[in-house]
Amino acid sequence: MSGVRLYLSNDTSSCAAGAERLAEAWRQRSDVELVRTSSRGAFYLEPMVERDSPEGRLAWCHVTAEDLPKILAGDGGIPISTIPFLSKQTRHTFVSFGVTEPLSLEAYQAQGGLAGLRNARQGSPSAIIQEIKTSRLRGRGGAAFPVWKKWDVAATAQADRKYVVANADEGDAGTYCDRMIMEGDPFRLIEGMLICAMAIGAGAGYIYCRQEYPAATACLRAAIRAAGKAGWLESDGQPFTIEVVSGAGSYVCGEETALLESLEGKRGVVRARPPHPAQSGLYGRPTIVSNVLTFATIPNILARGGAWHASLGTEGSCGTIALQLGGRVKQPGLIEIPFGLTLREVLDQFGQGMADGARLKAVQVGGPLGSLFTDAQLDIPICFDAFAQADAILGHGGIVVFDDQTDMLELSRHLMAFVADESCGKCVPCRIGSLRAREILDAIQRGQATEADLSLLTELGDTMKATSLCGLGGRAPYPVLSALEHFPVEFRSRLRS
Ligand SMILES: Cc1cc2nc3c(=O)[nH]c(=O)nc-3n(C[C@H](O)[C@H](O)[C@H](O)COP(=O)(O)O)c2cc1C
Repeated sequence: MSGVRLYLSNDTSSCAAGAERLAEAWRQRSDVELVRTSSRGAFYLEPMVERDSPEGRLAWCHVTAEDLPKILAGDGGIPISTIPFLSKQTRHTFVSFGVTEPLSLEAYQAQGGLAGLRNARQGSPSAIIQEIKTSRLRGRGGAAFPVWKKWDVAATAQADRKYVVANADEGDAGTYCDRMIMEGDPFRLIEGMLICAMAIGAGAGYIYCRQEYPAATACLRAAIRAAGKAGWLESDGQPFTIEVVSGAGSYVCGEETALLESLEGKRGVVRARPPHPAQSGLYGRPTIVSNVLTFATIPNILARGGAWHASLGTEGSCGTIALQLGGRVKQPGLIEIPFGLTLREVLDQFGQGMADGARLKAVQVGGPLGSLFTDAQLDIPICFDAFAQADAILGHGGIVVFDDQTDMLELSRHLMAFVADESCGKCVPCRIGSLRAREILDAIQRGQATEADLSLLTELGDTMKATSLCGLGGRAPYPVLSALEHFPVEFRSRLRS
């Protein structure tokens, strides 16, 4: 007799929070049938165990191995549908998370998987691109460029070969939604890449996956094998190959042109643009480089129609956004919601305020190159246009909350030192500018800088913004200058008198 079926996430974050320990403890038990699923992304509740009930799944949170008798007896579980962190979300891309086994093709199809690909195969490449145009989807990797425009350029380019590249380098501190997709719903990424390949006429794809993601890499490789065996990786006799390539371990390799250099086996150095990758990318051929989340959004658009996608969110930012809440909030985790809620609403409704009674000092949105927001600025709507107007970025949707114990000068120095370390060195403003800026911040920390050094820091920042070759140097000054603007005393009080 098989035991009670229990669902336990296999996601790296869940495992780090204790899910793997539970799996080890219960694996040999005859009264338990353990099913390893993706994670719901409510990481503050992990390790979380679920079981079926007539009212849907019940969950037990912060579980230890000793809780098993209680779970088997059905005592104390709460219906998943009553957890506000989850029930307040609008899940489309992450709809299967916590529900399905990542490598089950049957489960993927039962959740609506492959409907988009089937629709795409019934139409022409230009019909696919038209659907994406109607959806008004903008890239989720940071630049928010309209997806259909890139596809159109690559589709109309004449070339012997074309490529599709998923950018899975996910280097922004505090972001993990790409990893969750690759570990938790890899067929969705593969389906999105296949649809893109059909639209532009590509025969090969690569997933450039962050080296620090071994579980994602293994899961993707297994998923590609399974998709191949099931016969999905060809259309009308035309094969499409997908290969997972391990990233070079450098932040700048997430920048699309440095990524292409790295894929070609060279050092990850930024290329001057134009030409853009859609015109001349991998090995000089038209290439679509897009973020994992962008590709994972495509299947639903082809399945439900571009107009459906365009009806979600705001005028300029259609669809949903995956936010990754981290730092000193009570409830960190993954949130999928339509664009438009304010930053404060997200922090209050999903984060549930600060952890351990701490006081909020600043919020950094968009990774290590993102501007800092103070409490007074939190009423900004989460959409591309409002952030652009505020001279800020949404980036890849990472939100890191800092408390009042944070030393803003040290944070600024840390972020600038990161850029100085990670600069590819191709352009002077980034290579030298980040180093000089870090030296000024070091000097302030040592009490050896003057007011003139602060002016120089601002001037240097403006020069880097205006003249760097890519977003690494171009965005590096933003967190530092916003810290200086909002917390001037923390800098000025440490100047030489
Ligand atoms: C320094 C730097 C690092 C980047 N890292 C990533 C990354 O890890 N993942 C990503 O998708 N885009 C990253 N980008 C953005 C890419 O250059 C590119 O805009 C993106 O892959 C395009 O995908 P999208 O059209 O889906 O937005 C980075 C950009 C810069 C300047």
